[in-house]
Amino acid sequence: MSEADAVTERLKAVLPPLARARLQSLRLAEGGTAIVVLDAAGLDTLERERLEQAVNEALAGQAGVSAVRVALMADKVRRRIIAVGSGKGGVGKSTVSTNIAVALARMGRKVGLVDADIYGPSQPRLLGNEGIKPQARDNKLVPVPSEWGVPLLSMGQLIEPGKAIAWRGPMASNALGQLIDADWGAIDTLIVDLPPGTGDVQLTMLQRHKPTGAVIVSTPQDLALIDARRAIQLFGVGEVPVIGMVENMAGYACPHCGKVSDPFGSGGTEAAAKELGLPFLGRIPLQMAIREASDAGQPPAAGEGEGAAAFEAVARRIATWLDNQ
Ligand SMILES: Nc1ncnc2c1ncn2[C@@H]1O[C@H](COP(=O)(O)OP(=O)(O)O)[C@@H](O)[C@H]1O
Ligand SMILES: [Mg+2]
Repeated sequence: MSEADAVTERLKAVLPPLARARLQSLRLAEGGTAIVVLDAAGLDTLERERLEQAVNEALAGQAGVSAVRVALMADKVRRRIIAVGSGKGGVGKSTVSTNIAVALARMGRKVGLVDADIYGPSQPRLLGNEGIKPQARDNKLVPVPSEWGVPLLSMGQLIEPGKAIAWRGPMASNALGQLIDADWGAIDTLIVDLPPGTGDVQLTMLQRHKPTGAVIVSTPQDLALIDARRAIQLFGVGEVPVIGMVENMAGYACPHCGKVSDPFGSGGTEAAAKELGLPFLGRIPLQMAIREASDAGQPPAAGEGEGAAAFEAVARRIATWLDNQ
């Protein structure tokens, strides 16, 4: 046995049994980086994290090892999660989530949508695929397609419509896990519409499904912004980078006279973003057309005009952020 092989065998021997059972290859690259490839098929996010951590711990500090790199081979696609949050409800978080997803899909990205709002799941309505229950395949949910190229899994599909949900803790967390660790196929980016505030679902999201980044939606006025700051704090604690803030419902163009007014103020979110040192992703106007199209299951971002352009601009900034990761 060559010296290199002997070292590799010695390192394999210190791996915990679970890692050894799933080991595909282990080699020591130049400079002493141990490269470990494991089969992670069938493991959920938490189990994968544990496996990776166990390997890291076993190999770090071994003679000849300067660094450890673990590759988990399960899904061919490595999915990135973008969490869309807000401090409070009614600021247009769901509307922004849908339309960011649709705008990204329009740019040719493979995007799926997860509606994690246990209090008011609204994505089936917004995407126009209400009433369709997802099927299961190999114990995984299969997302429901939509006309806009954005498949969806929603808390709303798991419960009867109109039933207020008083889910807490484990139930909500399990449901979220089913939506995220589903059979997403080629989809590589998941937009997650979170419930408002900082409850169980948000914590599970941060701890188990680590988003790549977060988008914060707020209206321009002070009260909404105070809540938004709380949401930002939560992502900070979870070490999830905030991609930026979106100002929704600013600038109402009167459909009769065309004069623009600002029922909820204007510029407040941009100013807050600046103050917090966060990027400002754009402003979505308050428009009757946005509300009407949304209610009809026709996402404005799928159409043309001012609303579509506003969503597209936000989506482009998010796409650029993702590409720079
Ligand atoms: N920019 C907008 N212009 C007009 N109506 C909007 C706009 N954004 C959201 N709405 C409407 O406001 C209501 C609340 O939006 P929603 O996205 O459900 O908020 P949230 O998810 O934050 O509770 C919905 O009826 C929606 O159609
Ligand atoms: Mg909502």
